[in-house]
Amino acid sequence: METVVSGIRSTGNLHLGNYFGAICNFTKMQHENDCYFFIADYHSLTTHPTPADLHGNVRRVLSEYLACGIDPETATIYLQSDVQEVAELYLLLNMMAYVGELERTTTFKDKVRLQPENVNAGLLTYPVLMAADIIIHKATKVPVGKDQEPHLEMTRKFARRFNNMYGVEFFPEPEAYNFGKELVKIPGLDGTGKMGKSEGNGIYLTDSEKVIRKKVMSAVTDSGPVENYQNMSEPVKNLFTIMEFVSDPATVNYFREKYNLCQIRYGDLKKQLAVDLNAFVKPLRERIIEISADDEYLRKVVQTGAGKAREKAARTVREVREIIGFKPF
Ligand code: TRP
Repeated sequence: METVVSGIRSTGNLHLGNYFGAICNFTKMQHENDCYFFIADYHSLTTHPTPADLHGNVRRVLSEYLACGIDPETATIYLQSDVQEVAELYLLLNMMAYVGELERTTTFKDKVRLQPENVNAGLLTYPVLMAADIIIHKATKVPVGKDQEPHLEMTRKFARRFNNMYGVEFFPEPEAYNFGKELVKIPGLDGTGKMGKSEGNGIYLTDSEKVIRKKVMSAVTDSGPVENYQNMSEPVKNLFTIMEFVSDPATVNYFREKYNLCQIRYGDLKKQLAVDLNAFVKPLRERIIEISADDEYLRKVVQTGAGKAREKAARTVREVREIIGFKPF
């Protein structure tokens, strides 16, 4: 059994790419490991949300994850800002993080390019806060995408540095959680690449039937299969890929055959795909609406999670303070 920590970004609604790519794995993983999932709301301050946006985003993301099957009785789910020990460990780790290495981090350089008007120190020390999130639970595994690998590398560096500096073997060096062949990528509806929030090519878990239909009907295709074709074009391949996730195999086969016979009408394929996507998303959508209206349930989830997370975090920070040399008089 591993200790797993994963921070959840609180910006943007969840789309099917998130669902199949990450959340499905989380819901499985939670039964086999000691999992800590938290909403990274301290981190979200690096982009200066308004107070109303901050709360609304946290609430929405929390409801979405719960609706997808993250179970607060199995895993520990909490808000980062409810665990103030994280802020203390962040402070302590900052004393060991060098400005040069932080400035060289690719994600920092990207952010400087993206928001040149707001290059705050929190952006620079983002990897330090992320390291604190992870090592505060002495995590051994972190499910991260490619984009977060530099941060995980820095986490290992900070953990190692702390251990070396104080001559202890206190923090484990966390590794990426390897989903192996279960790692799936859902393509977008715009013909190229994967589904992502910045690309605007996704089906969101909260999309209504009407919105889903509209998005699918305007998905990119091609001018139709031709005799002796070499390869299916990428946009059409992508629609089939999505279909494989939400439609039954007989439906997929039906359209594949039509395609192979050069008899396919993309309009028919899209209509069917829209129906199947809606059938897939509907129960999630309804559950999200239900949960996000249930103040009492959300309050209970958050309180329970904070309690469990703080217990672990407080122990780590107490030991860290001792190791560093803070002593009671
Ligand atoms: N930086 C991560 C992201 O953008 C979110 C995050 C914050 C995180 N703290 C974490 C992920 C700790 C894993 C572990 O997706």
